[in-house]
Amino acid sequence: MSQLTSYQKITLLFVCFLLMLACETSRDQKFNDRKVSFNSDWSFYLNDSIKDNDTIGTATQWRTLNVPHDWSIEGKFDKKSPAGYGGGALNGGLGWYKKTFKVAVEDSTKITSIIFDGVYKNSEVWINGHYLGKRPNGYIGFQYDMTPYLKYGENNNEIIVKVDNSKQPNSRWYSGSGIFRNVWLETTDKLHVAQWGTYITTPKVSAEKASVEIEIRIKNQYAASKKATVTTTIFKEDTKVTSVTQDITIGGNSNQTIKQNTEVETPILWSVETPELYTAVTEISLDNKIIDQYKTNFGIRDFKFDTEKGFILNGKQVKIKGVCLHHDLGPLGAAINTRAIERQLEIMKEMGVNGIRTTHNPPAPELLDLCDKMGFIVMDEAFDMWKQTKTKYDYGNDWDKWHKKDLVDQLLRDRNHPSIFIWSIGNEIPEQWNETGVTIAKELVAITRQYDKTRPITAAMNPPVNMNIDDVTLQFEKNNVQFNAIAKSGVLDLIGYNYAHQTYEHHQKNFPNTPFIATETTSGLQTRGYYDSVSDTIKKWPVRWDLKFTEGNPDNTVSAYDQVQTPWGSTHEATWKVIKKYDFLSGMYIWTGFDYIGEPTPYEWPSISSYFGIVDLAGFPKDVYYMYQSEWTDKTVLHIFPHWNWKAGQTVDVWAYYNNADEVELFLNGKSVGVRSKKGDDLHVMWRIPFQAGTLKAVSRKNGKVVLEKEIKTAGNPALLKLTADRNSITADGNDLSFITVDIMDAKNVLVPTANNEISFSLKGNGKIVGVCSGDPVSHESYKGSKHTALSGKCLVVIQAGNQADNLELTANAKGLQSKTITITTK
Ligand code: GAL
Repeated sequence: MSQLTSYQKITLLFVCFLLMLACETSRDQKFNDRKVSFNSDWSFYLNDSIKDNDTIGTATQWRTLNVPHDWSIEGKFDKKSPAGYGGGALNGGLGWYKKTFKVAVEDSTKITSIIFDGVYKNSEVWINGHYLGKRPNGYIGFQYDMTPYLKYGENNNEIIVKVDNSKQPNSRWYSGSGIFRNVWLETTDKLHVAQWGTYITTPKVSAEKASVEIEIRIKNQYAASKKATVTTTIFKEDTKVTSVTQDITIGGNSNQTIKQNTEVETPILWSVETPELYTAVTEISLDNKIIDQYKTNFGIRDFKFDTEKGFILNGKQVKIKGVCLHHDLGPLGAAINTRAIERQLEIMKEMGVNGIRTTHNPPAPELLDLCDKMGFIVMDEAFDMWKQTKTKYDYGNDWDKWHKKDLVDQLLRDRNHPSIFIWSIGNEIPEQWNETGVTIAKELVAITRQYDKTRPITAAMNPPVNMNIDDVTLQFEKNNVQFNAIAKSGVLDLIGYNYAHQTYEHHQKNFPNTPFIATETTSGLQTRGYYDSVSDTIKKWPVRWDLKFTEGNPDNTVSAYDQVQTPWGSTHEATWKVIKKYDFLSGMYIWTGFDYIGEPTPYEWPSISSYFGIVDLAGFPKDVYYMYQSEWTDKTVLHIFPHWNWKAGQTVDVWAYYNNADEVELFLNGKSVGVRSKKGDDLHVMWRIPFQAGTLKAVSRKNGKVVLEKEIKTAGNPALLKLTADRNSITADGNDLSFITVDIMDAKNVLVPTANNEISFSLKGNGKIVGVCSGDPVSHESYKGSKHTALSGKCLVVIQAGNQADNLELTANAKGLQSKTITITTK
């Protein structure tokens, strides 16, 4: 532009600006979200004695907080907790929340609703003294129309929420307590798209085009009937793809469902590798004025489960390499935080996971949004029990009154998510063995089909045949076998069962017409960084993987060699070998991706969190993570373990997980101790060698050329702290998190794998410490404190940004070690 005069340049810029305005405005510029966050400035009071709303006003001990909030995680681990160690030995109780707010006068002609994404449990809600309702289920979202009871302008409104998690036990795992998911305030015109009011399907998908069917439920809360125009525009990123318009007449105070059909040319398909999303923006106009906008994300993909080829996505066979996840977020408890869920999913993705099972309840909506964006094959599960309870006060007590509504709401809420491929109507339901179970299963299947015909329905059943019989190949015709009644009834589209990997190869004989998914597998048990195992003869040493766990270690640890499992489970390798071998096995969901609070099988108190995770409670991978990574990803992997801090002369088994190589050679202090390569279906190699302090080095090679080298060194005494943040710069929005790993190092900067120093943290700046954790299932230190004892040389601290941009300074101190500071920028 150098030859233009200043005047010409300004004119040109102005023309460009006008042109930009004239161009299609982008989706986000145009789109107004109907709901705003309603998370901040709640008052909270934990008190069992006040049972009714009318006396709550006299309570004086309110404290201010933001939701999502989990009060149980703030308590002490309690051996006598009625929740039991299964529930994480953390107490429930009765909590009250209240919030005062104003609503603008101009909204007095509108509909104002409050949306809760999930409150654990038995919530009851009042607005300005009017009772809005109760919702026993702690995992489902719900909303109330507050319009008739609101005051406008300068007047205050008060909302009160009673949360009753006092009857314990009511869960087999840690549930958390309180308003533990997001809360929203929604303002709409009286004529609007109803709650969860769209349903988008793509019945015909080809490379050339995809048909898109959009079902829209419209609600008219005006007394008069209305003539309106409904336009749905489909966007890919910010580009308009297509749009469809329809005029409607809708009666006063009524609902109407309309259907709009359109096509997307050359659709960009959703897949695990390229999770491409489209957005449909539905607008309702009255007299040419847009009065309501509703956004639905969806994906275009074509899939089926096949009796021969397993899961086929967009014409390609895809093995489901999934994990089960409970909803807690380790040290953050059950209070959801989008970044914390995203981090969990990132860690899973890095391992090669492509599937998530939401055990055993509807997850936070944010998890599903992230699975849509990140590319996971989700099995969305509704219940852990039907009418028959598993713990005294669980959902079985609410079954009769609520199951239909809860299931319908889950389907309405979730059915547009492209990441969901399977509905599960329950997990290990006690009624599965008898006709009552078949009757209930039929009802649940019918409800599910009514709301979505595009996905298969399964249940996570116990093995379909009694595992005590010798011959697991027995077919249904044989009389002497106890069969899972639901599996046999033919009511399910997909046979899903938990464990029993020995039976998988016989699936096609037992169920020739129904495809298979391993809904839950493995239940391996491991403490990160521990390698000793107890046998009857040898109490703790030496470090040998083949010395099986029998009575448990005295310190409630479990060896992290892949050799300890529940009686109903298998080693990680055993189940994966079967799933990998047969095409007709669609895949598996391993129990579990992450450790979770509660269910500390095989121990009881003092253990309070699980040993099942491939990754520990803090987010640190156990060794078997790398077995999966070597099998499930294209990344070049070489991982050796255990650590190299043993006693001279001890016999130690050294394992290596590797891929993209033909062999691995191990060197101890420069001397080769042998070359190994995997044979047949081996998933690791091993050397049994006497320990000698120094350096253990593994070299993987392909066609004689070095692929990777890995070294582990014997560490000296703890001397230094190393701090590593997953992100050094985060958003100053009061929510975002930085996860900082503390490694305890010796003077030569080698990780000390046995270090268990207590580390204390302090933070300067506009932010706070919201969690500390080492992944130790036996630790009773609070996750909410500012100090924690490391496990196997590692500890995690989580810091949350405040609302103002700042440089946060986190300092870690441990007695006798050099302290260390890290700066996290919030913007
Ligand atoms: C399964 C159950 C899971 C968990 C697991 C532990 O039977 O479905 O919820 O309890 O066992 O191994």
